[in-house]
Amino acid sequence: MEIAAVNALLCPHCGLSFNTPAPGDNALVCASGHTFDIARQGYLNLLTGHGTKFVPDTADMVGARDAFLDAGHYQGLGDALAARVQAHLASTSEPALVVDAGTGTGWYLQQVLAATSARGPAAIGLDISKFALRRAARRNPLAANIVWDLWRELPLGAGTADVVLVIFAPRNAAEFARILKPGGMLMVVTPLPSHLADIAQEAGMLGIQEDKEAALVQSMAGDFQLVDSQELLVPLELSPADVGNVALMGPAGHHVDALELGRKLAHMPDMTHATAAFRISVFAPRTRA
Ligand SMILES: C[S@@+](CC[C@H](N)C(=O)[O-])C[C@H]1O[C@@H](n2cnc3c(N)ncnc32)[C@H](O)[C@@H]1O
Ligand SMILES: [Zn+2]
Repeated sequence: MEIAAVNALLCPHCGLSFNTPAPGDNALVCASGHTFDIARQGYLNLLTGHGTKFVPDTADMVGARDAFLDAGHYQGLGDALAARVQAHLASTSEPALVVDAGTGTGWYLQQVLAATSARGPAAIGLDISKFALRRAARRNPLAANIVWDLWRELPLGAGTADVVLVIFAPRNAAEFARILKPGGMLMVVTPLPSHLADIAQEAGMLGIQEDKEAALVQSMAGDFQLVDSQELLVPLELSPADVGNVALMGPAGHHVDALELGRKLAHMPDMTHATAAFRISVFAPRTRA
């Protein structure tokens, strides 16, 4: 965990900064002495009490998403996000900070950091799932990977982040606006209605009924204005195992009947064509009077 990332954090109890940890420390201590353990796997739990009532993804669901992403199927999206962040950071003054809200297994943040490493932004990944953060801490060991509930006030100071990424994750617009610097960038990725429609049946996916862009922009309108919106289609060639991962990794993964899925996959061809369809929406915080 890089010092620059720790420096951006605030203690959720008292709002003060954390002391600089020494290498190998297994806890962060704030200026008033509140102590938070750094797990053996490298992530930090700042969440005290209970998070939002929420059924977390299981270890199997997280594992399926990680395997699917690691196979490179969504590299096109990773590259598009990385290029956009890189372009934004090129015009900012250092030190830069990227926050990945709902970082999951950290795959997208890893793509972004790989593309921007020359300028070395500090990075913070937030997620409520410890299973996901264990993997995120392995992927992005220099980032601060933190157990947190995005619906709470975020454990970061106002105006600290250059970029907030929200990739298929909850959107707390007011908090994202608070932590972004003036001129900062919020990037939101959502699935389009046609996303993986070709395999929705096989993968037992819940339908994405409509393009929710208008609703997205509306829900952010109090704090953000839309500056750019781009549709990205990524052609895929999927093995039965890949389709199995798709079935497990999304929200439908909670309800998958393993036997039934196995039967469906056994009848699939060696390779299936499908198209991933994403919307990348870029927002700027509204300037306050
Ligand atoms: C569909 S996954 C996307 C993960 C990652 N951005 C990716 O695309 O690989 C949604 C993530 O949001 C996290 N999440 C859901 N509700 C959350 C909350 N209230 N606070 C923090 N994270 C949350 C889940 O644990 C999960 O890792
Ligand atoms: Zn404190």
